[in-house]
Amino acid sequence: MIPVFEPVIEEDDIEAVANALRNGEVSGTFGQSITDFENEFAAYVGCKYAVAVNSGTSALQLAVAAADIGEGDEVLVSASTNIATALAALHNGALPVPVDSEPHTWNLDLELLEELITPRTKAIIPVHLYGHPVDMDELMRIADEHGLLVIEDCAESHGATVRGRMTGSFGHMACFSFYANKVITTGEGGMVTTNDEALAERLRLLRNLAFTEPRFRHEIAGFNYRMPAYVAALGLSQFHKIERIIENKRRVAHAYIKNLKDIPGLQLPVELDWARNIYWMVGLVVHPEFGLSRDALTAALEAEGIQTRTFFCPMNQQPVLEAQPGYKAVLAPVADRLWETGLYLPSTWTLDENTIAHICDAIRRAPGAWKAAA
Ligand SMILES: Cc1ncc(COP(=O)(O)O)c(C=O)c1O
Repeated sequence: MIPVFEPVIEEDDIEAVANALRNGEVSGTFGQSITDFENEFAAYVGCKYAVAVNSGTSALQLAVAAADIGEGDEVLVSASTNIATALAALHNGALPVPVDSEPHTWNLDLELLEELITPRTKAIIPVHLYGHPVDMDELMRIADEHGLLVIEDCAESHGATVRGRMTGSFGHMACFSFYANKVITTGEGGMVTTNDEALAERLRLLRNLAFTEPRFRHEIAGFNYRMPAYVAALGLSQFHKIERIIENKRRVAHAYIKNLKDIPGLQLPVELDWARNIYWMVGLVVHPEFGLSRDALTAALEAEGIQTRTFFCPMNQQPVLEAQPGYKAVLAPVADRLWETGLYLPSTWTLDENTIAHICDAIRRAPGAWKAAA
């Protein structure tokens, strides 16, 4: 089976973790790895501060908590995303409100934002989906006009840029994931970046059970979202090759696009002229002209030993969110369609051209696809 994604751990990564363990770098208070990872990552993103945590989900929850967003507040989120984006609002007592997708980039449609803003709206969490950035210049203009806080969900967009500027440097805060399938991995892990010193301090406080003086007497309810030190050592080692990984992710995507672009009914990832797409995953949307449904294509590829995964189930179709008091039913027809017709292909950054050609061939030859139908 060609897996949809395989983590790539190299000898230098193993060495980095082993060295950290040899030095007794276990939890966050031991050694230099966490501070080094935070400082180098912040500099890469173009932010003054970075706060390492134990997952992308924790990063998002911590960011919403640090912004004091809670009960009675609404948070606009991309409809098409991982549930973690919406749970960041939900677990803080706020209401996530989905924003439908744009059909070509699959990101939230900025033209829909203003009609969804109410007096209760406090923040927007845009997701740079599958590695294509949201137009953050335009999003920040709208947010500033309405006095809204912006938390970028960069779980899938490390190194993606908008007019040359890194995703994660636009919003008041930005959240990254280092899960196994992310651009760089620590197994589990995350990071919040910000340029705001007060927010950085509050993020650090809340990350560590909100310890203040005297120790063990707590004024506010914090979390334990700390990243272990040997995990940060892995993060740092992975981070040092981030540009090589991104170049390869782009190579993989370009090979797929070149190979598949003439097939009717297959919609491929785009890269708008102001954007650098890092193609976290190579998505496809299957239109009727292809002759086969997404599910039939998935089954045909599975039979050839090629694993795929569907696009996200949108936030307007999530039973866990519908059950929330005050739930707002918002329509998101584009995100609904992406959920039904979108899939992503094996996207490991080490995939070679022959394997990609083999996968594209399997798509072309899928029984019942456009050629046979023609
Ligand atoms: C868009 C998005 N947000 C948040 C997350 C959550 O990150 P984590 O798995 O590190 O908790 C993920 C992926 O896992 C994601 O794809």
